[in-house]
Amino acid sequence: MEQKLKQLEIEAITKINDATDLKTLNDVRVAYLGKKGPITEVLRGMGKLSAEERPKMGALVNVIRETITKAIENKHHDLEEEAVNEQLASETIDVTLPGRPVKTGSRHPLTKVIEEIEDLFIGMGYKVAEGPEVEQDYYNFEALNLPKGHPARDMQDTFYITEELLLRTQTSPVQARTMEKHEGKGPVKIICPGKVYRRDNDDATHSHQFTQIEGLVIDENITMGDLKGTLDVFAKKMFGEDREIRLRPSFFPFTEPSVEMDISCKICGGDGCRVCKQTGWIEILGAGMVHPRVLEMSGFDPQKYTGFAFGMGPERITMLKYGVDDIRHFYTNDLRFLQQFAVQE
Ligand code: DAH
Repeated sequence: MEQKLKQLEIEAITKINDATDLKTLNDVRVAYLGKKGPITEVLRGMGKLSAEERPKMGALVNVIRETITKAIENKHHDLEEEAVNEQLASETIDVTLPGRPVKTGSRHPLTKVIEEIEDLFIGMGYKVAEGPEVEQDYYNFEALNLPKGHPARDMQDTFYITEELLLRTQTSPVQARTMEKHEGKGPVKIICPGKVYRRDNDDATHSHQFTQIEGLVIDENITMGDLKGTLDVFAKKMFGEDREIRLRPSFFPFTEPSVEMDISCKICGGDGCRVCKQTGWIEILGAGMVHPRVLEMSGFDPQKYTGFAFGMGPERITMLKYGVDDIRHFYTNDLRFLQQFAVQE
């Protein structure tokens, strides 16, 4: 019997040592120490032993049971520790690893240039004004000295919604709206950025929707000299201090006299190249002295007030400033194009 018990002990200890998880260990415990296990069986059979053998065997069984229990406890502890260590190892965070960069967008190049122009004029005391894109024929044309049937209306192929309602073809209607609000009292000093629409076929230099920035100054004693000085500051700040401007006579129904402003070509320095079409000059915007009839129609007394206005296309300015060769790049939103401007932020 003693031999059998010793054998059981060795067997149990081997199984305990071999257990690699808590479930197996528990199975070993139940198998050896459980009610139906061999040790309990030995204890049950104690009654059959002689009086002098019984305490000897009893002591031996207790020692063996204790040894097995202790071994199970130790193994249990080891396995638990192992599991915790394994979990810790698998969940380790290397705080020295660089983080994953969050992808951020950037402002659209047109927005950037429009904001740059806004800032420039705000710095000269202008306020930013806005108007509706669905506009009345009256503000888009009539109040700007373009009555129905005027031939100059044909220059701006218009999307009509009804006979009196249209998608504005220019930001100039904001001039008329702002003057009306001032109820004949100057000064007025505004720029109006916004979207405009024309029935053009899209190509490298035309888009059926594009943007304009309008400028308007009205006060007593405003002269052509003020206009020229303002445009000169604008051109130098936008394109570089070494740029010259020149004004050429032109025609717009809402200004008299009307001019177009060119800047000297930076690429060839005035000698003539492909960008300036061999002229040494690049056309930038239209401008002029506000036509007395326009002042009058919007409630200003042309005997007392004079003013100047100008209108430009931010697409054209952005194209010249950054060497963009196709207006459609601004609207197709190819990230490879847009991201080039993000770098310059
Ligand atoms: N509205 C004109 C256009 O779309 C641009 C323009 C020219 C605006 C002269 C003006 C101006 O205010 O004075 O072609």
